[in-house]
Amino acid sequence: MHLSKISTVLTPLLNAVAVLSSQAPADDLSVLSQEVARTNNQSLLWGPYKPNLYFGVRPRIPNSLFAGLMWAKVDDYATAQQNFRHTCEQNEGMAGYGWDEYDIRKGGRQTIHDAGNSIDLTIDFVKVPGGQHGGSWAARVKGVPREDALPDQSTTLVFYTGLEGLGNLGVTTETEDVRGFEGDVKFTGYTSELGDFSIDVTTGPESNEHPEHGHPTYDEKPLDRTLVSSLNIHPEQIWQTKVILFTQMKKEVDEVVKVYGAENPPPPSQLFAIKNEPGDGNMHLVQKVFRGAFEFDILFSSGSSSQPVTSETLTEKIASTSLEFSERFDKVHPPQTPFDTEEYSEFSKSMLSNLVGGIGFFHGTDIVDRSAAPEYDEENEGFWEETAEARGRAQPILEGPKELFTSVPSRPFFPRGFLWDEGFHLIPVIDWDTDLALEIVKSWLSLMDEDGWIAREQILGSEARSKVPPEFTVQYPHYANPPTLFIILEAFIDKLDAKKNASIQTVAETEAADIFRSAYIESAELGDAYIRSIYPLLKKHYLWYRSTQKGDIKSYDREAFSTREAYRWRGRSVQHILTSGLDDYPRAQPPHPGELHVDLISWMGMMTRALRRIALAIGETEDAEEFGKYETAIERNIDDLHWDDDERTYCDATIDEYEESVHVCHKGYISIFPFLTGMLGPDSPRLKAILDLIGDPEELWSDYGIRSLSKKDEFYGTAENYWRSPIWVNINYLVLKNLYDTAIVPGPHKEQARDLYSNLRKNLVENVFREWKKTGFAWEQYNPETGNGQRTQHFTGWTSMVVKMMSMPELPASEQKGHDEL
Ligand SMILES: *[C@@H]1O[C@H](CO)[C@@H](O)[C@H](O)[C@H]1NC(C)=O
Ligand SMILES: *[C@@H]1O[C@H](CO)[C@@H](O)[C@H](O)[C@H]1NC(C)=O
Repeated sequence: MHLSKISTVLTPLLNAVAVLSSQAPADDLSVLSQEVARTNNQSLLWGPYKPNLYFGVRPRIPNSLFAGLMWAKVDDYATAQQNFRHTCEQNEGMAGYGWDEYDIRKGGRQTIHDAGNSIDLTIDFVKVPGGQHGGSWAARVKGVPREDALPDQSTTLVFYTGLEGLGNLGVTTETEDVRGFEGDVKFTGYTSELGDFSIDVTTGPESNEHPEHGHPTYDEKPLDRTLVSSLNIHPEQIWQTKVILFTQMKKEVDEVVKVYGAENPPPPSQLFAIKNEPGDGNMHLVQKVFRGAFEFDILFSSGSSSQPVTSETLTEKIASTSLEFSERFDKVHPPQTPFDTEEYSEFSKSMLSNLVGGIGFFHGTDIVDRSAAPEYDEENEGFWEETAEARGRAQPILEGPKELFTSVPSRPFFPRGFLWDEGFHLIPVIDWDTDLALEIVKSWLSLMDEDGWIAREQILGSEARSKVPPEFTVQYPHYANPPTLFIILEAFIDKLDAKKNASIQTVAETEAADIFRSAYIESAELGDAYIRSIYPLLKKHYLWYRSTQKGDIKSYDREAFSTREAYRWRGRSVQHILTSGLDDYPRAQPPHPGELHVDLISWMGMMTRALRRIALAIGETEDAEEFGKYETAIERNIDDLHWDDDERTYCDATIDEYEESVHVCHKGYISIFPFLTGMLGPDSPRLKAILDLIGDPEELWSDYGIRSLSKKDEFYGTAENYWRSPIWVNINYLVLKNLYDTAIVPGPHKEQARDLYSNLRKNLVENVFREWKKTGFAWEQYNPETGNGQRTQHFTGWTSMVVKMMSMPELPASEQKGHDEL
């Protein structure tokens, strides 16, 4: 396709590419798409992409350079060792931590309120573009003792950097003093992907102080020096940095004890210090010991950029990054009434920043059961016993290595990719940075196997596996998970449509760097090319769902519009359907191969609708027609197979002891799934009942959000009580969005939907905000009686969807009375 045929929008984009890449203007679409991909890759190359760590930086390159931070208060022997921080943990008594501001293209600020070490850390991380290898970056680490700290508290900081694969890395500063470095420490290195680079670890400002004491060991190793230990570690163990550090410290402790005896040790600040042995190696520990407050910089400079990063550059970048973040936030996600206040804005910035700051790059093998045992078809009564036996017999294999770019549900507890979480995560992200969201979608799709399956939990490599009990590490190619990535693809199609309708906005108005957050929207041709590139995968994925999760209509004389459209989750046990995402939500008992699941057919409806629109967008009209037929059949079958006239809600179906198809009704999230997935139009005769159910305080409504299960259900709050009463933000977002969609179009229940929308939005946001203020954290779920945050702490995955809720418009209250009286 030649430039003359491409829309005028392209010209400014091409010029921007030319400016940014300092190359001649591109002259056709394929060059442009390569350029956009390249520019995206460059600006996304580096980041705190080890979100399992409080601070862990790596590029999106497998087996490459990585860097991180560990620290501890070293005031007493007993606790110093326990207090070394490295991986995010829930049991370390943190008074909150995370990104207050963060933009994946530029950087941001993380604060860590480490109550146990009585220190507050601030880490500013910035990216500095330039050169041919993804640019440079820098971090400023600041510590301030908390109010309850001793005035001269000793804190030790260990920065480390290592190389997983080929290349070299070594200390190049001349050692002025064998006892440690008085000035900055410089590393230089090379890898084929990163080219030449250097890392400077500065001494920081003169105000930094260091502990002193009279023990004779001080003469050999004064603590006002920086200590560097260079090591060669087996690549399989190199991620176990804390173990490596402890091994080094133990050697020193043993030597000291040998010379001075256990009864005459140096103070802890001296004892827990590594030996100064700088040189070459694939792992380097850099240790500093401070008294009171401190500050120092870590400066990574790409050799191909025109200038190395300095502390002055860093200072300027910190200021501009913060300013630009706020400006963009106010433009993209400004909280709307009643949340248009300073404190809600700060809250929303933090939630968005933690969501995006939780994005990581993962690489390694995973464990898959490819036995394809016939039992896995789950066709017999008692199938769950047969499948358990088959799983016991199976010999899962290591597959890969694979790689994944994704955000994570929770940095301390779930620091890895989860398929159905990701679709929710990307809802606020696609507004903030469309190209980033599309990049992540693409990364997930690249994990698809040849049958169209994507494992729902991505546990790649031994570092990721170290956080998962062994029985949960195996992935099964017949297990599905809600196809939420299609929500994002549908949102993308909405954006393309809106763009087409809008008068052509000039790209020149957008800041050059920001163009690459929305290149796929600014240029219809690029958007089209993106969809075309993933379309075969989307189809394959869709067909995999249709065939592997099919439900049985014909064997049980069920009457329905279509004899084909019915669905059943595989991988069910008596108590759980983990694959549905709503693990312990009550289902038919006992399980039966004739079961039909209303949540799954609803997801399939959403998926079909999205795929139809995608097909239409790229002119695959025959496909679109076919998907349209499936969509209608699903819509009809949702009512025919799942609507229960007596219960006035949607229900699962199963086969009873007389071999009859019967409904299994448990009011709650599952029973409103057709509504949640947009399968219920504003004129649906079932809509009123669903709205009534949502709004009834004796059933789903609470002051803090919509409960997962009705208060009137016999299983309410019972057993594990995971999805049996608590309030989940992701599903509440779906409720809210569909209330909104119902409220803004003509229809008989417009007013009711509007009131529910306004009240729910307020209840949800206010509660998540209140708990965040109170505890310092976002939570996995909220208690429907008290509103308290519960279970996993620092759950900044889909709980961050409050960002989107705040930026949704307020709908003024209707003239009429509250929904109860309608
Ligand atoms: C992204 O950039 C890195 C560093 O320049 C390079 O090694 C890698 O091949 C690039 N990836 C893609 C997909 O272009
Ligand atoms: C775009 O315009 C068409 C025709 O006027 C309309 O049907 C469609 O709903 C609009 N889409 C959006 C996203 O505004």
